[in-house]
This record gives sequence, structure tokens and C-alpha cells, in this order.
Amino acid sequence: MSSVRIARAGAGLRGAVEVPGDKSIAHRALMLGSIADGDTILHGFPGGADNLATLAACRQLGVQIDERGSEIRIHGRGWRGVAQPTRTLDCGNSGTTMRLLAGLLAGRPFASRLDGDASLRHRPMRRVLDPLGKMGANIRAEGAAGSAPLAIDGGVLHPATHELAVASAQVKSALILAALQAEGETIIAEPARSRDHTERMIRAFGGRLEVQGQRVAVFGPQQLRGTSVVLPGDLSSAAFLIVAALVVPGSDLELRSVGLNPTRTGILDVLAAMGADLEVSHTPAAGSDEPRGTIRVRSAALRGTRIAGEMLVRAIDEFPILCIAAACATGRTEFADAAELRVKESDRIATMTEVLRTLGASVEERPDGLIVEGPVGFGGGRIASGGDHRVAMAATVAGLISRTGVTIEDAACADVSFPGFYDTVARLTAGAEPT
Ligand code: S3P
Repeated sequence: MSSVRIARAGAGLRGAVEVPGDKSIAHRALMLGSIADGDTILHGFPGGADNLATLAACRQLGVQIDERGSEIRIHGRGWRGVAQPTRTLDCGNSGTTMRLLAGLLAGRPFASRLDGDASLRHRPMRRVLDPLGKMGANIRAEGAAGSAPLAIDGGVLHPATHELAVASAQVKSALILAALQAEGETIIAEPARSRDHTERMIRAFGGRLEVQGQRVAVFGPQQLRGTSVVLPGDLSSAAFLIVAALVVPGSDLELRSVGLNPTRTGILDVLAAMGADLEVSHTPAAGSDEPRGTIRVRSAALRGTRIAGEMLVRAIDEFPILCIAAACATGRTEFADAAELRVKESDRIATMTEVLRTLGASVEERPDGLIVEGPVGFGGGRIASGGDHRVAMAATVAGLISRTGVTIEDAACADVSFPGFYDTVARLTAGAEPT
């Protein structure tokens, strides 16, 4: 699939849908299951390209992993079950795979090497290499300006206190994985609270850590125990369908079993502030599984808002789709404090400025965000996704309300996080025709 043409939706999105399992949580379950003692069963594995990269890397580290449909069984044999890989581990497009594995492998007694695609080779790695270096890690960035490939010479780690300059769950998680191997107390303090899936999951695996606000303390060394993880649907995937249902008239859509971890639900708060009609009902928690529930969305008139600070961190991956919502809203929407978006799978501020302008919006690009004035009547045209999955999916939603249709180039990248995305949209709207 090289390109997909999305026609204006003839009718609203109606019915009930379950989106694929949470990508962030799945990465962590694969890695923690690989270092834990005993079997871990992962239910609802989404099978997107990013998660498959982590799965393949864990197998190359000698961990036996059986797949039965969306059920994955990881036969963990403790830290010692992780062995030297015979070749470079390919992290593909996945920053989470590379950064978390860097923390995990820094403390293993062997050499390993991590690489990724052209996008991942451009992403900053010093943010993990510097604090890991403070713990004694020996990792050499072979790329320019501290980027991948990463050559890791694993060895003994010692604890450290880290004051992070950016709120990043990937950096925090890499340091937690290193801290589990270091003897003593490691402290990680973030400037704002990033997603806490690693902290929750370590407890589910029988591990100990202390969380106080934006500060995590980990006491190492620790041995985790395998467990069962039931993934909720990925709210970051659901976000595309939620905004589609809001902006396509006549929609009434129910999204079932979606993750509602408060460190991820910024999108729901932003949309509520924009006047969205969302009904969220929480499912009673089962064991140590992450919070989840049902979201019902009906079409609504949106108004502009400001998205900055802590709210931006809680909706970090939702910027592309929030740009589409913002262009549909009446008035001005401003994104600020979002410079991190320049180092995601693409420079998302630049990419979305370009997308919105192609579709007819007037946009002011800022170093740390953008301002869009709505409502914009989207015309149509060709959108270069730049290989960024969330840009391709955001452009798809724009296509559903465009006058003349939108063609998305390099559309297959949606598979990075949302396998079956175009089929799901087609089923809900009858609007997508692969070309
Ligand atoms: C992720 C953390 C975030 C997010 C990414 C997934 C994770 O990245 O943007 O899509 O799974 O930990 P940062 O840690 O760089 O903010």
C-alpha cells in the first residue's frame, strides 16, 4: 500500500469499536516479561510494527516467546535468561524500543548494538546516554550528534540521582530498567509527570519502587516475577476515531475497553475544553491491570483552546490529531511548550503546519508549537506522511471532512501503531479506497 485516498464521509461514524492494544504498555510487558522469572502472558497484543520490533529484539536476546493470535507467552528466565545477541538489534521506527533497551542492556554483561530506520537514526539519544553514563553505562553513539546506532558494552551499574531536563517516559523507563540492576537507590525526578506505565507494571511484576509526585525511587537489584497482563485498547489510537466522530456530522460512536490511565488522558480533557460531547465510563479495575473503560462520542461543534504545560505532556502523542480538531474548531487554538514534538517520528510541528496549510488552514508556526485559526473548510489534496504514522492517520481524519478528498502518501506507516486502521475507518464510514 503506497497511498490511500480518503473521500468525504457520506455519513457519520456509528456503532461500537475496539482499537488495538496499547503500544506503550505492550513494549514494557515484552521487556519486563523477558527479564522476569517465569511465564508472562500478554493478552490483546496489538501486533503493530513498533511492538514487533521489541518482540523480535527480545527473541534475539535469547528469550523464548510464543505467539498464539493476540496472546503472547514470554518464557522469562530472569536476568540471566537474557543473552548476547548475535547481530544488531533492529528497533525499526520505535524510540521506545531503542531507549528502553539501552537501559536494560547497559547492565547486562555482554556487548550489544541497537539500530533503527532513518527516522530513528535522527532522534536524540544523549538524553538516555548521559544519565545512563552517570550510572556507569558504557554506550557509544555511532551516529552524528549522539544518535543511533548505539554500541553498548554492558557491565556493572551503580545508582545515581537524576534531575531530568525533559519529561520523557522513555528516558525515565530506561533509567528504571538500569536501576533495577544497580545496587542501591536510584532517584529519577522529572519536570512534569510523564506516562507511568513502567512504574505500574514493575509493581504488577512484584517489583518495588516509590513514587512521590514527579519523583521515582528504585532500589536495586531486583528480580521480577512473570505475570499476566491484559492490555487495554490504545487511547492514542482511539484518539483518531474520537476526533473523526466529533467532526463528521451525524456520528455516535462507542469505543470499548480503552486505556484511561490519567497520565495519558490529556486528549479527553483538551477535547472536553473544546466543547466535545464525550461520555466516559470506567470499568472496575481487575487486579493490577491498567485503568480502562468505554468512551461514547457524538458529533459536536468545537471551539478553540490553549494546550500547554502539563496538559501537553498528557497529550504528547495526540498533537497531530488535535491539530485537525483545532482547525475544525471556531476560533484560535494555540499549542505551546511543545518543542519535544520536533524530535518525534518526524518534526511534528513542521509536518502538521505543512499538512494544515495544504488543506487550506492559516497556521502560525512557532519554535515550541503552532497557532491555528478555525473553522477551516478543508479542501483536499495530497499529504506526504513523511513515514510518520500519526501524521498519516490525522490526515485520514481530515480527508473524511474534506471537500474533494485527501490522498495520503506512504500510508502503510499507520501500521506502526494501529494495524488495520484504514479498514476500521472504511468500515465505520465507507470512505477509504486503497489505490
Ligand atoms: C512513549 C513515550 C513518549 C511518547 C512515545 C511513547 C513511551 O515519548 O511520545 O510515543 O512508550 O514511553 P517520550 O518519552 O520521548 O516523551
